[in-house]
Amino acid sequence: MKLTTPYLGLQLKNPLIVGASPFSDNLRSTQQLEEAGAAAIVMRSLFEEQIDMEQRALLHHIESPAESTAEATSFFPAYEEYQLAPDQYLRQIGELKRHLSIPVIASLNGYRPGGWTDYAARFEAAGADAIELNLYQLVTDPEISGDEVEADMLETVHRVTDSVQVPVSIKISAFHTSPTQFAKALENAGAAGVVVFNRFYQPDFDIEELDVQPQLKLSDSSELLMRLRWLAILSPHLTRSLAATGGVHTTGDVIKALLAGAHAVQLVSVLLKHGPRILTTLLTGLHDWMQEHGYESIDELRGAMNLQRCPDPAAFERANYQRILQSWRI
Ligand SMILES: Cc1cc2nc3c(=O)[nH]c(=O)nc-3n(C[C@H](O)[C@H](O)[C@H](O)COP(=O)(O)O)c2cc1C
Repeated sequence: MKLTTPYLGLQLKNPLIVGASPFSDNLRSTQQLEEAGAAAIVMRSLFEEQIDMEQRALLHHIESPAESTAEATSFFPAYEEYQLAPDQYLRQIGELKRHLSIPVIASLNGYRPGGWTDYAARFEAAGADAIELNLYQLVTDPEISGDEVEADMLETVHRVTDSVQVPVSIKISAFHTSPTQFAKALENAGAAGVVVFNRFYQPDFDIEELDVQPQLKLSDSSELLMRLRWLAILSPHLTRSLAATGGVHTTGDVIKALLAGAHAVQLVSVLLKHGPRILTTLLTGLHDWMQEHGYESIDELRGAMNLQRCPDPAAFERANYQRILQSWRI
């Protein structure tokens, strides 16, 4: 049975990728993940703001980049709060490449065109097999239109893809007015793949202190459903790679994402909860399910439930929304 899958022009030994997270900071952890079956690893992100801070500091010959942190960036972490400085990040790529045999995907995180995108070429020179560009943005300024935001994002993608030979995937949010059009535009801008979707960490209110509390809750399988729908919708329209991130916790979740059209699935919360060995359980479950259902390869099952091929395409669309609301009786 063939568990191999093409992703970003790389041939992965199976569809399970470790998603961007702190796992990549620690060589021993990454080795355990590889031993347990991970087919590739995405490193934690290097952020636009972090690179900008360092570049400004270099420009003004300031000793510590923290001293260059202007008022405008005071909402962001201070320079020293980032886990890896840009030069450490480059060294970490080299370290992982020396000790792992699976592909190492370095991650950049930002959305406005700027000098920070130069780091894509540095990632490549340091040995990264691919780059994941996370376009995370949350627009609160009422003067900025969706078109402007997407134009900046596409320009950023152009800059990154033009500056490297290695494949570049783009991790996007679900909150685009027309995600399919945007995903196609990303491919036209040179993206080798699209990763759906960014998870937005929702802050809570403390009603005693009247304070807003940032929090990081790990996901569960319910978060996969929105991704499944969009994987199924995007899959017939995109010509390159698709990956799921968010809410993949069980063998069933992995199979669903592949049936919806994903070439690969990224895992973070499930690994933080259960440790690397859960990968082996998921892979065995995938193998057994494929055997039981007569699939010889991942290629055979990929997209079998996408919008084009599923028996009831209306279930993904507005028609089903109406049907569900109308079916509720008091
Ligand atoms: C502790 C932690 C750190 C993360 N760091 C990054 C990051 O640096 N860059 C990024 O693109 N995503 C980051 N993510 C998001 C994950 O890559 C992933 O998209 C998200 O957790 C959803 O997948 P999951 O449901 O498997 O956890 C992080 C997630 C966690 C929990």
